[in-house]
Amino acid sequence: MNVYDMIISRRTIRRFHQKPLDLELLKKFVNAARLAPSAANLQPLEYIIVTEKKLCAQLFETLGWAAYIQPKWTPSEHERPTAYIVVLVKDIKNPYYQRDVGFATENIVLAAEADGLGSCILCNINREKIQNIFKIPQIITVDSVIALGYKAEKSVVEDMDDSVKYWRDEHDVLHVPKRKLDDIIHINKFS
Ligand SMILES: Cc1cc2nc3c(=O)[nH]c(=O)nc-3n(C[C@H](O)[C@H](O)[C@H](O)COP(=O)(O)O)c2cc1C
Repeated sequence: MNVYDMIISRRTIRRFHQKPLDLELLKKFVNAARLAPSAANLQPLEYIIVTEKKLCAQLFETLGWAAYIQPKWTPSEHERPTAYIVVLVKDIKNPYYQRDVGFATENIVLAAEADGLGSCILCNINREKIQNIFKIPQIITVDSVIALGYKAEKSVVEDMDDSVKYWRDEHDVLHVPKRKLDDIIHINKFS
């Protein structure tokens, strides 16, 4: 797959097979993040790779899943992510750090997609609890968590009409509305 195909095929995945992820693969994803564009090349980001079962279980308790799905849903015991990458910021005074996070996390999820893995970026997280679990010093900020694993659900894109809310059909396929190309492109003028 070329990069464009990967971008098109990647969808957020929240259900995973329970096959463990190789540490070298996870390091490769962090390497992809390391080489992302960075404003003024300040590189304010660091990462915790989480693979230990006990830590994964503790981290799972701090995560909020799929807020649009009702009634409230979280992955069941046998469909949880098998690894995580916690994204840390060492200088939140850097006015562009959130852009750096965007590029770095996109590199991670695309690298994961290229290796046939599913991923979910999470910002609905309990940062204080994560700080405690990993004994992260207060000068470091927990930005987000990327959940990873082998895909155990299907997610498809559909043209958006009036709602941004993703939904699951009777076969448990996730449908993700995206704005139509014609609705976001302006050619030579804003119209
Ligand atoms: C910055 C950011 C934060 C997100 N936080 C969460 C989250 O806390 N929980 C969750 O289940 N999904 C989260 N997502 C995943 C989005 O819901 C998902 O990207 C969106 O529905 C579009 O689906 P797609 O990634 O398949 O295109 C987040 C995505 C981004 C970019």
